[in-house]
Amino acid sequence: MMTLFDTHAHYDSRQFDCDRDAVLSVLPEQGVALVVNPGCDLLSSCKAVELAQRYPFVYAAVGVHPEDCADWEDGCLLELRALAANRKVRAIGEIGLDYYWKENPPRALQQNVFRRQMELAQSLRLPVIVHDREAHQDCLSIVREHPQVTGVYHCYSGSLEDAKVLVKLGWMLSFTGVITYKNARKALEVIDWLPMDRIMIETDSPYLTPEPFRGKRNDSGYVHLVAEAIAQVKGVPPEEVAAVTLENGQRFFGIS
Ligand code: NI
Repeated sequence: MMTLFDTHAHYDSRQFDCDRDAVLSVLPEQGVALVVNPGCDLLSSCKAVELAQRYPFVYAAVGVHPEDCADWEDGCLLELRALAANRKVRAIGEIGLDYYWKENPPRALQQNVFRRQMELAQSLRLPVIVHDREAHQDCLSIVREHPQVTGVYHCYSGSLEDAKVLVKLGWMLSFTGVITYKNARKALEVIDWLPMDRIMIETDSPYLTPEPFRGKRNDSGYVHLVAEAIAQVKGVPPEEVAAVTLENGQRFFGIS
């Protein structure tokens, strides 16, 4: 059995309210050695920290997601800072920009909230977990404004050209079950080029369930399907992808 690191899963989500502990408690038996649960707002960041305290193999990130930043005030930084003092918090996230949904908060607000949290990460010397949907150019320019902050682009959906820039800046790229979907050609091209030491895998549970289970609720038990899809592109055994991405994730999040 492979040993896997799901670097991005939302177990604080309401979709796990009915069976959260049942799902989490069997993950080690399913080969999932580590999970990072990022927050999406203050409440979900609190819940992420609580889960990390309850499960030895769960770590947390705290942050305000661009889709959830409408109520942002700079006082949120103090609360995030307090949460980040917990020893199981290993990143600020998920943060970034999302221009996909029309009803999302205004772009200028998203950009401000993203910048404030990049500064927070810099002052706490923590990496960031970035969400970039249909905002590639603005996202990359805010990343470039903070050369001392390193991070991961989660569910990478950008171009090969941008991937090359990010790798040069020392960033990681992470991939979800989306790479098992029919329209994944662009992401597979990126993976084909990407050095193995820059790849992380994730489920983004409860969303983005890999094929052939697309449509069902996702959980970390499916993360091996992401490793297998990467293995196919790279022409290496899935065990190798599992081992390297585990090591990459441990290095990135500072987990020994
Ligand atoms: Ni997410």
